[in-house]
Amino acid sequence: MAYQELLVNDIPISSLESVAISAILRASDVVKEGFYSSLTISEKSGPHDVVTQFDKEAEKVIIETISKSFPNHCFLGEESGLRGVFSKEITWIIDPIDGTWNFSRQIPSFGCSIAAMFENTVYVGVVIDPIANELFVAKKSYGATMNGKQLSVSSRSNPFISGVSLRLEMLTSIPENIGILRRSGSTVLDMCYVAKGSLEGFIDRHINVWDFAASMLIVQEAGGVVTTLDQSKPILDSPKKQSIIATNGLIHKELIKWISQEKN
Ligand code: IPD
Ligand code: CA
Ligand code: CA
Repeated sequence: MAYQELLVNDIPISSLESVAISAILRASDVVKEGFYSSLTISEKSGPHDVVTQFDKEAEKVIIETISKSFPNHCFLGEESGLRGVFSKEITWIIDPIDGTWNFSRQIPSFGCSIAAMFENTVYVGVVIDPIANELFVAKKSYGATMNGKQLSVSSRSNPFISGVSLRLEMLTSIPENIGILRRSGSTVLDMCYVAKGSLEGFIDRHINVWDFAASMLIVQEAGGVVTTLDQSKPILDSPKKQSIIATNGLIHKELIKWISQEKN
């Protein structure tokens, strides 16, 4: 029988993938050049929530690149908001720089993220670390890669020797002898570290869909598990903030149990 490629609203999934990769590589060039030049930094909701001219420029380049191939698609970008109607077309969910605070302080730990979502399912997710030159790509049901190499989550099942990314306030409920705590300041990178087996888990509260849509698929396609903290499927076609946990699957329940004891 002839090989039949998965179609997403009549578009071959590989076409979505190649356009997503072109867009993220262009954005990566913009962001990398920006990192070594002078920045215009403005506050959004407060001093910890900042934006630079390169967040806006990278998002513009991503939307321009994708629109050339798919002029009717919908876009949800952190900087430019929603363009189009979520439910009718494929929606491209974009975080042009995740970890802008790091970027604005010359800390080389941030990523660009693009997801192609249709009817509450992400079909393609791409994330790039422009400084480390690590490109993560996932296609639904086809696996996940980093720079072309197949990704697989770690097989550690003991949370006490695990590496986990979480917020400091969560430490009130985490046993003192939990393995290693690591937090890069970029959600998309921390989740990709779970996908590549460098960390066993990631947890954050009240994050936006552009913070996790692409890397959620990358974790899942690498064999990991991503849920909300109340163990339901994350919602992708809504601007609602959600609390997300991504793990190798083996420490998922234990981490949720600990976090649910958090005093907040
Ligand atoms: C932020 C980063 C950070 C997370 C924040 C996000 P931004 O995204 O992902 O790690 O803790 O909740 O807002 O603003 O740099 O795109
Ligand atoms: Ca951002
Ligand atoms: Ca973000």
